[in-house]
Amino acid sequence: MKYHIVTYGCQMNVHESEKLAGILENLGYQPTDRREDADIIVFNTCAIREGAEDRVFGNVGNLKRLKKKNKDLIIAVCGCMTQKEQTAQKLMATFPFVDIVIGTFNMPKLGYYIEAVKKGRQLEIMQEGEIDEVLPYKRTSGDNAWVNIMQGCNNFCTYCIVPYVKGREKSRKEENILKEIKDIIAEGKYKKITLLGQNVNSYGKDLSPQVSFASLLRDICRLEGDFTLSFMTSHPKDLTDDVIDAIAEEDKIEKFIHLPAQSGNNRILKLMNRKYTREKYLEIIDKIRAKIPNARITSDFIVGFPSETEDEFNDTLSLVERVKYDSIFAFMFSPREGTVAEHMEVQIPLEVKRKRVNKLLALEKKLQKEKEDD
Ligand code: SAH
Ligand code: SF4
Ligand code: F3S
Repeated sequence: MKYHIVTYGCQMNVHESEKLAGILENLGYQPTDRREDADIIVFNTCAIREGAEDRVFGNVGNLKRLKKKNKDLIIAVCGCMTQKEQTAQKLMATFPFVDIVIGTFNMPKLGYYIEAVKKGRQLEIMQEGEIDEVLPYKRTSGDNAWVNIMQGCNNFCTYCIVPYVKGREKSRKEENILKEIKDIIAEGKYKKITLLGQNVNSYGKDLSPQVSFASLLRDICRLEGDFTLSFMTSHPKDLTDDVIDAIAEEDKIEKFIHLPAQSGNNRILKLMNRKYTREKYLEIIDKIRAKIPNARITSDFIVGFPSETEDEFNDTLSLVERVKYDSIFAFMFSPREGTVAEHMEVQIPLEVKRKRVNKLLALEKKLQKEKEDD
């Protein structure tokens, strides 16, 4: 019996797929790279932009011929995209050969649905779920081990679907995280440990007693073993001095910060509900550069947010020019159903968004080249 998993989206989703693989291997399935050889194919989906969803619809559609050849093939679709009830229904209705459609919170129960599918197609979307501490993992990222420290997000940036499909922020208990990392070190296969969360800087605020992210970092660094530690993603509004100090002082922590700015313009940042200003963001960057001179800094940007003017977009360009990032990701704003920005006026035409994203990427390329020539 063989399984094949197709993963879309962020690192957290890649790690979710490692959990799915663990569940499947516990059930006796073996991995295969070829869809044609699989007895079960699982799509772990992403909903962050429309393009991600379109790809899933296209690629799931392509499975029809495999199902024709192999009637016993099980096809399951799960993750952030199917957490949206309507999308899940639509997938079920469009593709009669899909057997299982579940949301993000049902994924730990994949084994149950595989059993249940003998009785008929399964569609179930749970609304909230606890973090499962006993799931087996099948780590697949070479000498890097991902460690989830929290799930969900409370920030409700107005463009973002994540809080709707991943639920409210829930931190894992520090003792469970430390135990997982000790086990990883003991295995001896991993050089790098990467902590994952949508907003790692707010780790532990929901625990009692509270634990700060900085103290979690310090406690992990005290563990014996030869490893480097990194984390993502940091939110500028919560990146506190004690975290910057920990990165600067702890040898094990990689001198790398992914600090998404999203925009360089204060009016747009406010509309995005990012809760920091351009000035505050630059203050943090300067602080990082002062305390960690060799720090690598990267960022995400959204261009063409509703009502963004050319001048406001130019503020993003000037921010990128000022910070001199090591690399950036640039995205065209994609309206997501149920978010505040979906119906904001005025939506920017696709051609304008495309022009802006190209301009931003061209600037980034130019800056990279200047860096290399230095
Ligand atoms: N939690 C992280 C990243 C979440 S998603 C953070 O807060 O930064 C990764 C990136 O996708 C975001 O940083 C953002 O730049 C982009 N993104 C999210 N929603 C988007 C949307 N509706 N349209 C375009 N890009 C989006
Ligand atoms: Fe989305 Fe904002 Fe949360 Fe990041 S911090 S996941 S962009 S709502
Ligand atoms: Fe990640 Fe996409 Fe979900 S970016 S959290 S897989 S919506």
